[in-house]
Amino acid sequence: MNQNDHLTEEDKKVLLDHDYDGIQEFDYPLPSWWTASFVLCCLFAIPYMIYYMGMGGLSIAQGQQMDMVELNKVRTAYAVKMAKFDDAAYSAFNNDEGAKLGAVVYEDNCLSCHEEKGKGDIGPNLTDAYWIHAKGTKETIYEVVLNGREDKGMPTWKEDLTKDEILQVVKYLMVIKDTNIADGKEPQGELIK
Ligand code: HEC
Repeated sequence: MNQNDHLTEEDKKVLLDHDYDGIQEFDYPLPSWWTASFVLCCLFAIPYMIYYMGMGGLSIAQGQQMDMVELNKVRTAYAVKMAKFDDAAYSAFNNDEGAKLGAVVYEDNCLSCHEEKGKGDIGPNLTDAYWIHAKGTKETIYEVVLNGREDKGMPTWKEDLTKDEILQVVKYLMVIKDTNIADGKEPQGELIK
């Protein structure tokens, strides 16, 4: 008896000639979903190759580098914008609401060194008319808060606060200055009238 006797005529049509120690195989076509996805991959690969190998498409690293250049531009523009006291933006906070917002910024960030209501502790009294770095004006206070005086223990705030938050806290300091709070820290710096 031939080993292929049990095969149907259909099976025999697709049976390949070769025989490996009695092991034979049918020549069925690949599943159509497989062939379709293979063809789709090839179709995708052609424009992909043309774009990335012939037309200067960016690699991930190059793309990231371009993004960093963009980001640095934005950062520089923001730093330049922050560095200048913005009168128009300040006027939006130059009111009771602005002072309230500023008080919150103060309590969250400044109170630890300048004590409650600016009476002074590690940092100087902010309710008197004496100033070490600022000159008691909104512009000079803004500059000191923005850049800090890190060698003297006053942190820079341009990294941690937004421009609006700095303007708000400046408004708060403008409100409390010259109020000479009771039991405040002794005056430091120059008397500014
Ligand atoms: C880690 C402590 C610390 C924190 C937090 C801090 N400061 Fe200061 N600040 C200081 C010190 C210290 C000085 C004085 C530096 C000196 O003696 O030269 C100072 C100085 C200042 C001055 C200048 C005063 C002057 O006499 O010219 C201003 C204005 C000021 N701080 C505002 C703020 C504001 C607003 C915040 C919160 C956003 C803040 N500081 C948070 C420590 C701090």
